[in-house]
Amino acid sequence: MSQPITLIATAAMGLESIVRDEVKQLGYKDSKTENGRIIYQSDLSGIARSNLWLRTADRVKLLMDQFKAYSFEELFEQTKDLPWEEWISKDGFIHVVGKSHKSKLYSVPDCQSIVKKAIVNRLQDAHQLTTRLEETGPRYKVEVSILKDEVTLSLDTSGSGLHKRGYRVGQGEAPLKETLAAALIKLTNWTPHDPFVDPFTGSGTIPIEAALIGQNIAPGFNREFSAEEWESIPSVIWDQALEEAEDLANYDQPLDIIGSDISHQAVEIAQNNALEAGLADLITWKQMQVKDFVPHAEKGYLIGNPPYGERLGDQETVEQIYRDLGSIMSQFPKWSVYIMTAYNNFESYYGQKATKKRKLFNGFIRTDYYQYFGIK
Ligand SMILES: C[S@@+](CC[C@H](N)C(=O)[O-])C[C@H]1O[C@@H](n2cnc3c(N)ncnc32)[C@H](O)[C@@H]1O
Repeated sequence: MSQPITLIATAAMGLESIVRDEVKQLGYKDSKTENGRIIYQSDLSGIARSNLWLRTADRVKLLMDQFKAYSFEELFEQTKDLPWEEWISKDGFIHVVGKSHKSKLYSVPDCQSIVKKAIVNRLQDAHQLTTRLEETGPRYKVEVSILKDEVTLSLDTSGSGLHKRGYRVGQGEAPLKETLAAALIKLTNWTPHDPFVDPFTGSGTIPIEAALIGQNIAPGFNREFSAEEWESIPSVIWDQALEEAEDLANYDQPLDIIGSDISHQAVEIAQNNALEAGLADLITWKQMQVKDFVPHAEKGYLIGNPPYGERLGDQETVEQIYRDLGSIMSQFPKWSVYIMTAYNNFESYYGQKATKKRKLFNGFIRTDYYQYFGIK
C-alpha cells in the first residue's frame, strides 16, 4: 500500500472553512481548500478517523489521482495506470458515478463506462484473470469528476452521507441536516459550560448535535462506513479509531441543553431521537411556544431555525414569532442569539440589527445566519 494517502472531505457550499478547521483539529495540517472540498494528506487511519469525527463534512473520499484528459483514450489509459488493486478486492462491486463541467469529455455516461472498463482491465491484469470479475463482494463507489478537462478520480469511503448519524429515527417538518446543525453550533462560541436553548427544536437536531459536541462524542460512533468492508484497510485501523473515540468521549461532562417546540409531536420525535443517540438524560425537552420562552439563566446561547414562512406557517405568523423572540431576548442582553432563516428583513421584525450575518444554504434554500453576540 502506497503511503501517505490523500483524502477529500466534501463540504456543503459555505461550510468549507468549518470543515477545514475540523480537518486541522484532527491533526491533518497540510490541507487545501477548494469549492465544496478540503483536500488533505493523511494515512490509512485518516479514513477511519475522518469518517468518525468530521461533524460538518458531507463525506470522505480517497483521492486516486488528478490529471488532464481531452480524449476517451487518455481517460482510459490514465485510469488504468492507477493501482486500483491496492484498494479494490478481486470480487469488489464497482459502481462508477460521474460529473463533467466545462470539459471536452462532456458525456458523463461515456466517461463512467470508460473508467469502469479501465479499472476492470487493471484488476484483471493484476489478478491474471481472463474471465469477468465476479463483483459479488464489497461495494466501491468510484467518482469521476471532470472540471475544465481536469479529471479527479476518487473512491468514496463513507457510504451514506455523514449527516446520517443513525440517531434520527423520526423527523418533524423541515428537519435540518445533522452536518448543518453541527455547523450552526461550531459557528458560535458556545462551550459545554454554557446554557444552550433551541426554542424551535423540531426533530431535536441542534440540541442533539450540541450534546455530542459537548461530550466530545464522535458523531459517526454509531454507524458504519463503506470502507469498513474493504480488505485493503485492516480491521485494526477501525478498532484503533473506535478506541480513540471511546477514550476521548467525556461522558461525565454535565450539560445544560434545552430543546422546545410548539408541537407536542415534534417534542416526542426529538425525545425519541435523543434516546436513540444515547443522550436521553442530557437534554431537557419541553412543549412550548416561543412567546412563553423565558431564559433560565443570566447568560447563555440560543440557536435555532424558526419557520421561514415558505414551507411552514404563513407570513404574519412568522413575523409575530420573530417579534416575540426579539422582544424577549432584548431583556436578556447577556444571551447570544443565533437564528438561521430565509425570511427577508428578519432583523426588522426581531427589532435589532445582527452583530454579524453569514450566508448559509439549507439544502438549496439560501438563508442568513443572524448572530447577536451577548454582552460580557
Ligand atoms: C424549521 S423547523 C425546525 C427544524 C429543526 N431544526 C430540525 O432539525 O428538525 C421549525 C420548527 O418551529 C416550530 N414552531 C413553529 N411555530 C412555533 C412557535 N410559535 N413557537 C415555537 N416553535 C414553533 C415548528 O413546529 C417546527 O418544528
